[in-house]
Amino acid sequence: MAKEFKRYLVTSALPYANGPVHIGHLAGVYIPSDIYTRYLRLKGCDVISVCGSDEHGVPITIKARKEGVTPQQIVDRYHALIKKSFEGLGMSFDIYSRTSSKTHAETASDFFRKLYDEGKFIEKTSMQYYDEEAQTFLADRYIVGTCPKCGNDRAYGDQCEKCGSTLSPDELIDPHSAVSGSVPVKRETKHWYLPLDRYEGFLREWILEGHKEWKTNVYGQCKSWLDGGLQPRAVSRDLDWGIPVPVEGAEGKVLYVWFDAPIGYISATKDLTPDWEKYWKSEDTKMVHFIGKDNIVFHCIVFPSMLKAHGDYILPENVPANEFLNLEGDKISTSRNWAVWLHEYLEEFPGKEDVLRYVLCANAPETKDNDFTWKDFQARNNNELVAVLGNFVNRALVLTQKYYGGKVPACGELNDYDRQTVAEVAAVKASLEGNIENYRFREALKDAMNISRIGNKYLADTEPWKVVKTDPKRVETILNIALQITANTAIAIEPFMPFSAAKILGMLAVEKFSWERLGAMDLIPAGHAIGEPALLFEKIEDDVIQHQLDKLAATKAANEAAESNQSIEPQKDTIQFDDFQKMDIRVSTILEAEKVAKTKKLLKLTVDTGIDKRVIVSGIAEHFTPEELVGKQVLVLVNLAPRELKGILSNGMILMAEDASGKLRLLQPGETTNNGAVVG
Ligand code: MF3
Ligand code: ZN
Repeated sequence: MAKEFKRYLVTSALPYANGPVHIGHLAGVYIPSDIYTRYLRLKGCDVISVCGSDEHGVPITIKARKEGVTPQQIVDRYHALIKKSFEGLGMSFDIYSRTSSKTHAETASDFFRKLYDEGKFIEKTSMQYYDEEAQTFLADRYIVGTCPKCGNDRAYGDQCEKCGSTLSPDELIDPHSAVSGSVPVKRETKHWYLPLDRYEGFLREWILEGHKEWKTNVYGQCKSWLDGGLQPRAVSRDLDWGIPVPVEGAEGKVLYVWFDAPIGYISATKDLTPDWEKYWKSEDTKMVHFIGKDNIVFHCIVFPSMLKAHGDYILPENVPANEFLNLEGDKISTSRNWAVWLHEYLEEFPGKEDVLRYVLCANAPETKDNDFTWKDFQARNNNELVAVLGNFVNRALVLTQKYYGGKVPACGELNDYDRQTVAEVAAVKASLEGNIENYRFREALKDAMNISRIGNKYLADTEPWKVVKTDPKRVETILNIALQITANTAIAIEPFMPFSAAKILGMLAVEKFSWERLGAMDLIPAGHAIGEPALLFEKIEDDVIQHQLDKLAATKAANEAAESNQSIEPQKDTIQFDDFQKMDIRVSTILEAEKVAKTKKLLKLTVDTGIDKRVIVSGIAEHFTPEELVGKQVLVLVNLAPRELKGILSNGMILMAEDASGKLRLLQPGETTNNGAVVG
């Protein structure tokens, strides 16, 4: 038997206030949470939805330093931007709070203090990187060096963004501080740890035994964490941005961002209502965390252990985490600007908020990573929203205007086909509810869309525009049913596309219906005057899509240029013209080429320098075959002191360029030139 709950507490991962929100966040977290919440509200449940900005953590301090502003200025900027763009998309949080609030500092401090007082932490000293010049401990992110895997010389101490490897600072080649540039040293520091190993038994029973119904991706990740064995996790950091650790002897230490942020759900609820305890302290509350898959361990293992250690609070009933959304085949990346940003979308596609909501839900990465493409966006808009939903609603309303001057005609006797259609509409409710309540929002959206599909088919099959000439009475019934289906559509799509639902209700000139009315065929009384029909959706043309694709192509080109720049060697020290003049470089032709026996790299070349024919030994055998070199004109430094290599005297040097990938290229005169021509 499923447990009955009296109320719902819906949380959505608090976005970091160090950048705008993109479609990956929306598809993974916010669209599903809003659908779920709107559905529960329509059903008349006691539900609150809380969210807010996650305003602590190292990346925010890095961004501030880069821009030469304070962390507070960064979070103020992005909190405002994110909050506004969420509103623009119709996100219906009951509160959008922030972790820099006073309530939050108190709540998180008290939480830490209670665990501290009750001996729930362990204290440990460890060696951490320290920047002596800047006199500060360095988070892994603040240490930069060369990636041991790919050679990227801007890898971070926790990750290389070029090849995606997870790193530790000790693995970096030539590590240095991102703050001062100096070479960091290791220094002892004390921190508090939550001994997660002590909660393993509890977690196993609660999740592995008690929540087998969780999504397989979530359950699987939890199981592998638990099977791998849990370790104590530090809950404090040496940093000057965050909530101070509220105990003696903790100067310069703040709560780790992943300790304070989830407590933000509690503080947000406190800021929302004085009645917050009934949501957090009653077993009658069903708490559901909406998150992306990178947050699973924190919401299923760490935060529940904190809640368990604290003892006053309930645990989540479900954590329906989604996988990741890619963009046009590539991983979405904030630092590489590979994303569709919500605030930009809202500006570029005014009035099309529901189109984005629709596409991101229809395409949500519920069970595996998924791809967003602009072509798919266009196709779903044109073939589904315009052709099915919009078309049906429009036909029902326009025909009512045309035949009855906008007055809802009366419903007469139903025939078998009418009854079958009515039954099909009524059947949607149970399926739709089951899908939403089990976090299958893609399927749920199909159910909701089905109502207008049924309506479209009903009009196509009954052909009121023909029948009106022979049996006008029958058309009254047909259009009455079509209008009832239209009203049903407005109910069913509300959680997914609230703007369009409101538009339909407006055109029908009726108030919002409760969820329970879904499937009813008496939603609009005969004689009721409907409003003016207007188009719900409009076709998106190719040039609009092309513009978006062009924008992405420009981003890609800029990224590639930036990346190849990374491996450009810095310029050497300045030389005088005389220094250059000392070099004697001549156009020459390679006459013969052969591999030097018992070596991998060396080729013995005979060249005509115009001055003489001479032998040059060159370390290029891995780049060129002897055959491809013979006959080529090249540039040769002819006055380089001779040198013996593998018993052969080499008399000069062939000039080459090494490209970013390490490939060698011959330098050749642009046109055939006489051997001996001077380069300079
Ligand atoms: N800011 C985190 C992220 O974007 C999510 C924090 S969720 C919370 O990945 F529970 F910690 F608040
Ligand atoms: Zn790398």
